[in-house]
Amino acid sequence: MEGRTIAESRVTLGLMMGPENANALGNVHGGVIMKYADEAGAVAAMRHARRPVVTVAIDSLTFLEPITVGHLVTFQAELTYAGRTSMEVRVLVDAEDPITGRRTRTNMAYLVYVAIDENHRPHPVPALIPETPEEMQRFEEARLRQQRRKQERAEK
Ligand SMILES: CC(C)(COP(=O)(O)OP(=O)(O)OC[C@H]1O[C@@H](n2cnc3c(N)ncnc32)[C@H](O)[C@@H]1OP(=O)(O)O)[C@@H](O)C(=O)NCCC(=O)NCCS
Repeated sequence: MEGRTIAESRVTLGLMMGPENANALGNVHGGVIMKYADEAGAVAAMRHARRPVVTVAIDSLTFLEPITVGHLVTFQAELTYAGRTSMEVRVLVDAEDPITGRRTRTNMAYLVYVAIDENHRPHPVPALIPETPEEMQRFEEARLRQQRRKQERAEK
């Protein structure tokens, strides 16, 4: 199986936040951000694997700034690491006030997906090819995180 670059599966999802996503004060619920972060991450993972994927872990979802109704929110997802059947994806969330143009980084999350076959069992994925020094560094950091997750699973 041939390797694929990070650029080949990178994806950006953009959404206007309406009142249905927010509380009475107009602040968007954290669960809404998590749902779309997971969706964007899953699309990047599927594009890399060219197979269906399932989420096995969501960690480091940090909330840096509130997002309010009327903001344009973008979810940029890119693979940081691919193992035999698992893939770690980093999702960056930015919110923009379309009137003022002010743009802020509101969230960052790491999610792990596993490619599955017809019997819902793990299926091998192509190797990930980091191209830039930043991508190489993120790959190494993600490899260590995935190693730690494996260890934690084994201890449970
Ligand atoms: C995904 C699933 C089929 C994997 O089955 P499994 O018996 O755990 O398989 P394995 O132990 O061989 O793990 C497969 C890969 O996932 C990784 N993995 C599994 N659980 C993980 C976790 N919690 N965190 C990080 N990686 C994990 C393993 O390290 C392994 O990676 P590798 O192949 O790259 O080395 C099974 O765990 C499952 O169905 N989970 C539920 C998924 C789900 O319903 N998600 C929510 C809705 S999408």
